[in-house]
Amino acid sequence: MSELKVRTFLKSLRRVIRQATLYPVGHPAVQEALHTAEFDLEDMVGDIGDMTLIIHDSALYRDRGLLPHASLEFEGMMREMEKRAIESVTLLSPTSRDDIYDFGAFIAGISDDLPADGTVRLNERTFSDMELDNSPLANLRRSYASSVDAVRTATRSLARGEGFEINTVVRAVESLTDSAMASPGAALLLSTVKSHDEYTYFHSVNTSILALALGRIVGLDKNDLLPIGMGSLLHDIGKVAVPPETLQHPGRLDDEQWREIQLHPQEGAQAIMAAQGPGHELAATIAFEHHARFDGKGYPAVSRERQPHVFSRLVAVCDTYDAITTRRSYRRAETPNRALRVLLTGMGGHYDPDLVRVFIKMMGVYPTGSILRNTSGEMLMVAPHEGGQADELPGFLVRTSGGELLEVPEPKPIVMDGVVEQVLPADAGFDPAAYLEYAA
Ligand SMILES: [Fe+2]
Repeated sequence: MSELKVRTFLKSLRRVIRQATLYPVGHPAVQEALHTAEFDLEDMVGDIGDMTLIIHDSALYRDRGLLPHASLEFEGMMREMEKRAIESVTLLSPTSRDDIYDFGAFIAGISDDLPADGTVRLNERTFSDMELDNSPLANLRRSYASSVDAVRTATRSLARGEGFEINTVVRAVESLTDSAMASPGAALLLSTVKSHDEYTYFHSVNTSILALALGRIVGLDKNDLLPIGMGSLLHDIGKVAVPPETLQHPGRLDDEQWREIQLHPQEGAQAIMAAQGPGHELAATIAFEHHARFDGKGYPAVSRERQPHVFSRLVAVCDTYDAITTRRSYRRAETPNRALRVLLTGMGGHYDPDLVRVFIKMMGVYPTGSILRNTSGEMLMVAPHEGGQADELPGFLVRTSGGELLEVPEPKPIVMDGVVEQVLPADAGFDPAAYLEYAA
């Protein structure tokens, strides 16, 4: 059974919860949401019968297997479930529509309990945490999710005018560093995950993965990687002080908006300094300098004689790369290739030329997760590789020349001579990171 079906069901469950909060059970909007949820649930369980969904450590599992994408996508709903002390949900087949409603109403806080003999049972799983998927890739997925969570939590408490708890960030960075070290290629592939709704959090984690990878390649040790991981994870945290209209403003910013934007490095650095904790000073330096340029321009204005700290220069390269490859409300995403070209152009001006060179070598001409179309019209995804230049890259056939999207991709080397173009995930109609478990 594909994860897609679980995600489809969870989406319709989320709709049930929303409608149940707004309207009484007999309302057509609630009934329609229930109808869809019932259909999607049926489609999800198919002929496998009973199924258990488990929430553990900010991740979602179907029986023992991790649901990588759903864990990130349904974070809000998982949190609501955790508030209701739900650790697992067993759906007995066939699940009744009334029980789906009761379950939704329970998550929404409308009802206080579920019928004990219903077809939806809470906290009745039959195996332990130890039996859940514990592979390196599952650990990597979990570290990703907890890093997203750490930035989200820190940002929200800053937005409430409170300081943030730095230890959560430290733990997230340590676990991200460990799992990225254990599977470096997979980590780079996972860094292609994007979220339109939570752009800043996902962008921060992606920047962090790239910065940790680059830091490791230039020979930094774990003591240095901690502040780099923290600084990159928190580099944009000062944006809480910038009005959202300014952040999402399409076109040119006026002087006032530009002044507001330019304050975010300083705001972020102050918040990190106030939070204290291991490595906080360097992390604050990174946040302060991530828009300062190699040639001394950029903001905030630093002296021409003093270049930004090498860690800040390193994060600036990774920040730019991920920002360019991500779609925003005001512009489309660019291909990895195009992002590398922007870095090349900015060598010596915006960016440290040595670091750009190492970064480009690390990513290769077609970075891991790139989607390429070949002369036969097939779409192939670049699997984790060594970087640099090669005539052939490891890859996977994901979309056939006839346009069929393969649920299980077929290993297929990518011959550089046969590459026609690089395709954006939005145009390819699939998310490279969703294939992590096959490609890595
Ligand atoms: Fe920034």
